[in-house]
Amino acid sequence: MTTKSVSPPPDELNFVGKNGFTEIGQEFHRYFQRLCQLKPHEKVLDVGCGIGRMAIPLTGYLNEHAVYEGFDVVKKGIDWCQQNITPHYPNFHFRHADIINKNYNPYGKVPARQYRFPYPGAFFDFVFLTSVFTHMLPADQGRYAAEISRVLKPGGRCLITFFLLNGTQQELEAQGKNRMTFPFDHGICKTHRRGAPEAAVAYREDYIRKLYRQNGLVIAEPIHYGSWSGRDDFLSYQDIVVAVKGR
Ligand SMILES: C[S@@+](CC[C@H](N)C(=O)[O-])C[C@H]1O[C@@H](n2cnc3c(N)ncnc32)[C@H](O)[C@@H]1O
Repeated sequence: MTTKSVSPPPDELNFVGKNGFTEIGQEFHRYFQRLCQLKPHEKVLDVGCGIGRMAIPLTGYLNEHAVYEGFDVVKKGIDWCQQNITPHYPNFHFRHADIINKNYNPYGKVPARQYRFPYPGAFFDFVFLTSVFTHMLPADQGRYAAEISRVLKPGGRCLITFFLLNGTQQELEAQGKNRMTFPFDHGICKTHRRGAPEAAVAYREDYIRKLYRQNGLVIAEPIHYGSWSGRDDFLSYQDIVVAVKGR
């Protein structure tokens, strides 16, 4: 088995957030093990894998029996991962999906709400989306929730990050403690920027809980709230929801 360490992509290729590329990858790698009991031989799907921020630390953990699959709508990120990760770790596969996201792939061909993940049902032990549903609108997100459930094995786990709207978050916002604002109200979600809704999307927690229930995903309580809303007690920046696919 290869032990080559993969260097991060150059800054000019990085569209997932310039600060802390390596640290954030390592942070989530710890959550994958600690909160989701990820094992080195498991089959893993990284939805919206970007430019390998989560894949790079996984190269040092997943073994040759494992499968890593990642897909994203931004071709240059997938190209970089295919050229810089797969040659050293052939069980890491990256796929470009030409799906429309007004923020990341405005000229894409396929609406996310019609996209079928290109993997068989009940294939993965673990599916994760880090900072992806925070850029997707309800119909698209609903489709992806169904697809995540379809490709997970019974008993498989998923970790997804959100900006969740709830009572505590509202109180913190009223006190001006929030670090992120969502001024545009669309009912079940709120958005950050006028005219560019997919720049950042926050969802009502009760809506997300219902979506999980409808898709047979059982939330592993508690939700790990993040610091974006102004909480003093937090795990990460965004809110983290871990769930298990019902058997
Ligand atoms: C903030 S970046 C996070 C990337 C990666 N998950 C990470 O944590 O490094 C958001 C990612 O979501 C991807 N994305 C947006 N809409 C998508 C969709 N419908 N399907 C898959 N990926 C999507 C973007 O292309 C971008 O790579």
